[in-house]
Amino acid sequence: MTDTWAPDSWRATTALQQPQWPEPEVVEEVLKELRVLPPLVFAGEARRLKTALASVAKGDAFLLQAGDCAESFRDFTADAIRDKLKVILQMAVVLTYASGLPVVKVGRIAGQFAKPRSRNEESMDGLDLPSFRGHAVNDNIFDADSRRADPRRLLRAYNQSAATLNLIRAFTKGGYADLNQIHTWNQEFVAGSRQGQRYLQIARQIERSLRFMAACGIDLGTDSALHEVDLYTSHEALLLEFEEALTRQDSLTGDWYDCSAHFLWIGERTRDPEGAHVHFLTGVHNPVAVKIGPKTTPAELTELLERLDPDREPGRLTFITRLGASEVEDKLPKLIQTVKDLNREVVWVCDPMHGNTFTADSGYKTRRFDAILTEIKTFFVVHQQEGTVPGGVHLELTAQDVTECLGGAEEILDSQLVHRYEALCDPRLNARQSLDLAFEIGEMLQA
Ligand code: PEP
Ligand code: CO
Repeated sequence: MTDTWAPDSWRATTALQQPQWPEPEVVEEVLKELRVLPPLVFAGEARRLKTALASVAKGDAFLLQAGDCAESFRDFTADAIRDKLKVILQMAVVLTYASGLPVVKVGRIAGQFAKPRSRNEESMDGLDLPSFRGHAVNDNIFDADSRRADPRRLLRAYNQSAATLNLIRAFTKGGYADLNQIHTWNQEFVAGSRQGQRYLQIARQIERSLRFMAACGIDLGTDSALHEVDLYTSHEALLLEFEEALTRQDSLTGDWYDCSAHFLWIGERTRDPEGAHVHFLTGVHNPVAVKIGPKTTPAELTELLERLDPDREPGRLTFITRLGASEVEDKLPKLIQTVKDLNREVVWVCDPMHGNTFTADSGYKTRRFDAILTEIKTFFVVHQQEGTVPGGVHLELTAQDVTECLGGAEEILDSQLVHRYEALCDPRLNARQSLDLAFEIGEMLQA
């Protein structure tokens, strides 16, 4: 496969879910510009993540992949980025404290701007318009002008990703993610809640341990592990023209890397083993993932393994199962069995979000906290029964005090969804629900 591969060889195959750009000449201009812009991430960083994922596959680390369903061109401030980081850092502390395992942190961030859609058109009040496909393609506002696909948005997506990454690098390496700051990651609206109080207890215990070690004469100032974290970036590699333009040859190894993010995944709607998305990712050396829905057959899973990880490289391939709380118990064992029968190792990750979406009586697209929890619990139980490793979770969340998912310790009711429903695409857990979930997962890891 890879001997005939080039960054643009996907063009000879069928690419689903690509935008219908009305101005082809502008697309060419934009891609020409993107092809010479600096890479967003570096090959060495992607290799480091691959090594970290290899230890996740062995059960020596746990993966937390989280962020918005769709990032927004509008919700783009330093505060919003800092707050997302806070939630991820808080959840990681809770998980590490419970499990004693390092947590590999990956954001759906700095590039998650393109959405696959089940329907090409959306209807409202008798008007049919093209569906919203993410801010890299069109606007979510429901009018003809906003919904027109505009290739210039690809450049804006690149620029916002670069600015977001710049801030992430500053926050994670410049003192903000220092364990001595652990108190400040508790946001105001979380701090007053039961989960916020529980977090505070852990924070105090960690601070006490740090003081104890310092008193014993251990020099805590020199170990970067206490003062910095790695937050890797990821998004769905959906818009292949964009991904192609950001694909560069590593000067050290000569290998191709998609330098738009460290970690790229293929969505449930574009995972055809013969399709363009799988073909494209066969040739890049980043760690890659595929979303696995309940209709996935053993034959498809086998094809995906053989195409995406022909060299059986540790950490290369992740399967993100998104089967739904009601189907996971039935479907997951067969999927795991297929991989075991081939004597293969992958990273198994649970996305408890996308198999549990429904429209509430109020008309809002939502998810129940309990269904999310049930899918994760069942994922852990099945892996334990099969003797395989439940490697991590893939979540849609936000740091804001939104009301998009039902339930949680401080229960959100259907009648409250209207209060603060701000999702561009799928409903997200708010910061309290996210922390709540982290404590629950922590208990599963402990058990
Ligand atoms: C998503 O992750 O937002 C998504 C569309 O997921 P899936 O491809 O699993 O439906
Ligand atoms: Co989503």
